Amino acid sequence: MKIITVDSYEELGSRAADVMGAQVIMKPNCVLGLATGSTPLSLYQELIRRNKAGILDFSRVRTVNLDEYVGLGIESDQSYVYFMRKNLFEHINIDMNNTHLPNGLNSDVYAECARYDAVIESLGGIDMQLLGIGHNGHIAFNEPADSFTVNTNCVDLQQSTIEANARFFAKADDVPKKAYTMGVGAILKARRILIIASGEGKADIVREMIKGPVTPKVPASALQMHRNVTVILDKGAASKL
Ligand code: F6R
Repeated sequence: MKIITVDSYEELGSRAADVMGAQVIMKPNCVLGLATGSTPLSLYQELIRRNKAGILDFSRVRTVNLDEYVGLGIESDQSYVYFMRKNLFEHINIDMNNTHLPNGLNSDVYAECARYDAVIESLGGIDMQLLGIGHNGHIAFNEPADSFTVNTNCVDLQQSTIEANARFFAKADDVPKKAYTMGVGAILKARRILIIASGEGKADIVREMIKGPVTPKVPASALQMHRNVTVILDKGAASKL
């Protein structure tokens, strides 16, 4: 793992934009795996700025997102498809037809998981996958478990994840209890992985991800088995390394 430590959350965004921007420049029709949550916001702001400044061109870029809540679609402002449109896609010159997320409104779990795996496959796999990390070590919505997931699956969110994500909803009860998520196996198939973390609250789990044993109890520890991972941390997240 290549570990980069920066001073602030803003700098985290611009260093991550350097890494992701280099991917887009090297391969203009690359497949980017994208994430939602608080951590990527400074990165997305910087990608938008560079696109508007004519430094980055997304016209041929394809994207696949990690996850989506079951039961939510574009009409819900808590859905991940809505988040991606508002925080990135609507502000850059990407073709919306080239952006993909699991369809939270498809209640046929088997069909939706198979469809999403086929989408990733049809794009030729992921060139660079962006990840955040949950306080419990989850990547995408792959929660701590007894075994690693491989393909897209439908998960029951853990109480700690529901509580962590309640900040985006009116009340914790409104947080959906299930989500579609790319599997750990699919994430590990990405040719490059970029994982970002911010704040002291993530310091313990970042340490476990990098220095702890590889175990499905800490899904992010699986990244130790990948040959091309860049970790960008601000001072707080790196404070226990
Ligand atoms: C989001 C996702 C999650 C988040 C993680 C960290 O698409 O897959 O794994 O990356 O929960 O979230 P934040 O960045 O809000 O701390």
